[in-house]
Amino acid sequence: MAAPMPKHPHLRGNHAPIRMESTAPDCIVHGEIPGELRGTFYRNGPDPQFAPRGMHHWFAGDGMIHAFHIENGRCAYLNRWVRTKKWELEHAAGEALFSPFDPMQSDPSVAGIDSTLANTNIVWHGKRLLALEEGHAPFEMDPITLESLGEWTFNDALVGPMTAHPKLDPETGEMLFFGYNAGGPFSPDVRYHVVDKDGVLTRSDHFLAPFSSMVHDFVTTRDHVLFPIFPLTGSLERAMAGAPAFAWEPDKGTHIGIMGRDEGCDALRWFEHDPCYVFHPMNAWTEGEKVFADVMKYEQAPLFPNPDGTPGDPDKTEAKFVRWEFDLAGSTNRVKETQLDDWNGEFPRLDERRTGLSYRHGYFACGEPGARLKALNAIGHIDHATGAVRRRCFGRDDGVSEPIFVPRSADAAEGDGFVLALVYRAAENRSDLLILDAQAIDAEPLARIELPVRVPYGFHGNWRPAA
Ligand SMILES: [Fe+2]
Repeated sequence: MAAPMPKHPHLRGNHAPIRMESTAPDCIVHGEIPGELRGTFYRNGPDPQFAPRGMHHWFAGDGMIHAFHIENGRCAYLNRWVRTKKWELEHAAGEALFSPFDPMQSDPSVAGIDSTLANTNIVWHGKRLLALEEGHAPFEMDPITLESLGEWTFNDALVGPMTAHPKLDPETGEMLFFGYNAGGPFSPDVRYHVVDKDGVLTRSDHFLAPFSSMVHDFVTTRDHVLFPIFPLTGSLERAMAGAPAFAWEPDKGTHIGIMGRDEGCDALRWFEHDPCYVFHPMNAWTEGEKVFADVMKYEQAPLFPNPDGTPGDPDKTEAKFVRWEFDLAGSTNRVKETQLDDWNGEFPRLDERRTGLSYRHGYFACGEPGARLKALNAIGHIDHATGAVRRRCFGRDDGVSEPIFVPRSADAAEGDGFVLALVYRAAENRSDLLILDAQAIDAEPLARIELPVRVPYGFHGNWRPAA
C-alpha cells in the first residue's frame, strides 16, 4: 500500500503527481487542429511514484513523459513513466528507496546504483527519443509507445552525465552538449561533446570551471560555444555536514566561458558578470567580433537556499528577459546587459530553425510583474525586430507550461507556424493543450485539446515531425 504524500509545496495543487499511466486515443478538440500539424509533442516532468524519502525538491520526482500524437486534426494522448533503474527497484519495493537530493537518506540497498530520474527534457535526435536529466546519461524511449528502452550512451562513447539542454545545430544537424560534475559528484570538471546528425559521438573535450556549480544550460552559435558558470555552488563537504549540497554563494560571481566551435576547451576566454542565475537562454548568435545571448535572468538562484540552509529572498525569484553582449575584440571581460521585457518570464523558446543564428521571434511563459515563479499564467511572443511583446493571459491561478514552436512546414518563414502549450485550469483542476497561431499569440487559440488527465507542472518538451 503506497503511503500518502507529505505536505510539500511541490506535491500540492498542479505539482501533485498523478501517479498513473493512461492512453486516450481520441481527445476532445474545441476549434480545429491545423492540418499542417502532423507529429508528436512530448513533454517531460517529475511525477514521484512514491512519497519521497528524506528532503524533497521539485527536481527530485521520477520522470513522466506526456505524448500528444497529432495528425488529421486529431490528437491521441498517452503518458508513461520513464522506467529507470530507480523506478523499477522502487516499484518492486512499493516505496521510495532513493533520496535524490539527500543521498545520506537513501536505503543502503541502493548505494552505488544508477539513480537517474530522466525527468527534465526529451529530445528527438539521430532517430532516437532521449529523456534527459543533467546528472546522468540519456534514457531512450520508444517514440510511439513510450516504452522504456534503457540508458543510451552513444555506443558507450559518452563518459559522464549529459545536460538536459543539448543544442541542435539547424545547419549541420549536430547535437552539441556538455556534462557538469564530470569528474565525480560536485567536481568542477565539465565535459563538452558533439554528436553528428546520425547520432555518432564525434568529439569530447574537457575543462575545469572556476568552481563547482549547477550548470543547467548553455548556448551555442554558428561560431561559438558559451558555458555560463553561476554562483549556485555544489559542495560535497557541505552535503556531508548535513548542509545544502547546492547553495547560493553570490561572492563567487558569474563567469561565462567562450570558445570558438573549432577551438579546444583550453581556448576558453572567461567573461565576468554580476552574481545572477539563469536556468534558460532563448538563443545566442555571433555578429563579427560580438556574441549575443538572450536569457531569463534571476538576481539570485530561486528554489535553492543559502549555504547555512536559510531560504533565499522571495522577492528575487522573478526572472527578467535580458540580452547579453560579449565583445571579443574589446579590452574588457565584462558583459554588457540590456533588458528586453519587464515581466517575470521563464521557459524561453524560439523557432529552432534559427538556433545559434540571428533570429526574430521568441516565445516564453510569463507572469505580471509581482507574480512569482509559481504564477506564470501567460504566453508571450517577442518580435525582436520591433521589441514588441504580445501576450495571451489566462486566469490568475492558472499556469502555463513551456511554449514550443512548430513551423507550418519545413520551408515556412521564421515564425510562421504554431505554438503549443499546456495550460492548467485551476478552477477546474485539469489541463488543456492549446494550439496557438504563432503570429497571433494573443488571439483565441486555433484549438483547445481537452485532456482527460491533469498534466502536472513539468519542465521541457519538444516536437517530432511525422515522417
Ligand atoms: Fe531546464
